Amino acid sequence: MQIRIMVKETNQNISISSTPSLGGGRGEADALYMRRCIQLARCGLLTCRPNPMVGAVIVVRGRIIGEGYHIRAGEGHAEVNAFASVRPEDEHLLPEATIYVSLEPCAHYGKTPPCAELIIRKGVKRVVVGCVDPFARVQGRGIQMIREAGIEVVVGMLETECRELNKRFFTYHEKKRPFILLKWAQTADGFIDDHFRPAKISTPFTQMLVHQLRAEYDAILVGRVTDEREHPRLDVRHWTGPSPRRYVLSHTTPLDALMAQMYADGMQSLMVEGGGKTLQSFIDAGLWDEMRIETSPLTTGGGTRAPQLPEMASLVSREAYGGNVVTWYRYDERNDVELEKPRK
Ligand SMILES: NC(=O)c1ccc[n+]([C@@H]2O[C@H](COP(=O)([O-])OP(=O)(O)OC[C@H]3O[C@@H](n4cnc5c(N)ncnc54)[C@H](OP(=O)(O)O)[C@@H]3O)[C@@H](O)[C@H]2O)c1
Repeated sequence: MQIRIMVKETNQNISISSTPSLGGGRGEADALYMRRCIQLARCGLLTCRPNPMVGAVIVVRGRIIGEGYHIRAGEGHAEVNAFASVRPEDEHLLPEATIYVSLEPCAHYGKTPPCAELIIRKGVKRVVVGCVDPFARVQGRGIQMIREAGIEVVVGMLETECRELNKRFFTYHEKKRPFILLKWAQTADGFIDDHFRPAKISTPFTQMLVHQLRAEYDAILVGRVTDEREHPRLDVRHWTGPSPRRYVLSHTTPLDALMAQMYADGMQSLMVEGGGKTLQSFIDAGLWDEMRIETSPLTTGGGTRAPQLPEMASLVSREAYGGNVVTWYRYDERNDVELEKPRK
């Protein structure tokens, strides 16, 4: 399979052949080590931003001789940490080694030298890459550089999983806006408050889960009415991790201007926590990637209506916590296409 990438800075087209199918044997082993890369990468979840999470594993004859992940922006990339972990007595095995890396090795001088160069210098035999880096200064160049040095490169191993791992980073770079999660809690009869007064819909446990999620987001937003009515702190206090930057939506900043501002501010992810009008605005503008809806058995009989679930929403999972149920949806572009078809 050929992946064609347009490099924005030079408008050059780079063609990268990928080998995504597993096909048994070596493919299964490749998938296994790529899974380990993803597992390692996740360790950087709260520390490596704004960089993507990346894991790397070095394997010789079925034995992992080195592994690492990107811990903190400005410090060593996953490949650097993986090579550094190889024991001196295993160094001589590198010419036989395969390095697995969940994201394309970088090709530019940033805060650290290019990983593609390091891989070439270390002289491994084979490189297996999870997915291409959408970052303008990489975009296929790392893969091209390694191939030009005569090293075999396989691209696209567990590509879906590798892209999912860095969904916020990918959305930011590809759509030029933050990855957007719409989140609300509703009563069994479809209200998000109790006659326009705040209602306790989530439980202490699900509230803790929300704080855990907040720590993964760069920005958090509520509408002007919610801000004035509830004065929510929107921070991370029932979990550990950084608090997101707080935004309030009002007529002074239209939605598209706010998105452009967040992109300029480097906000890769945004969690929208209500209220009704605000959530509906994002839905109507098609500005969302995932939804997390918590439904409690409580009824209030009146108040602000929960937003309408759009047709693009595709169910991902349903989790029960006592009486409360959390459902996750993702924006399904196929459903979007369906909507555009002329009706018979
Ligand atoms: N259960 C939950 O998960 C949950 C979460 C949060 C809030 N709530 C509840 O929700 C209720 C408030 O909901 P609500 O619908 O009345 O108000 P809201 O969504 O909190 O705020 C509405 C205001 O946000 C601004 N806004 C919304 N969309 C906009 C857009 N596209 N462009 C510019 N500004 C925009 C406008 O401000 P301006 O008027 O300044 O133009 C609008 O009046 C509260 O009672 C709160 O308790 C529930």
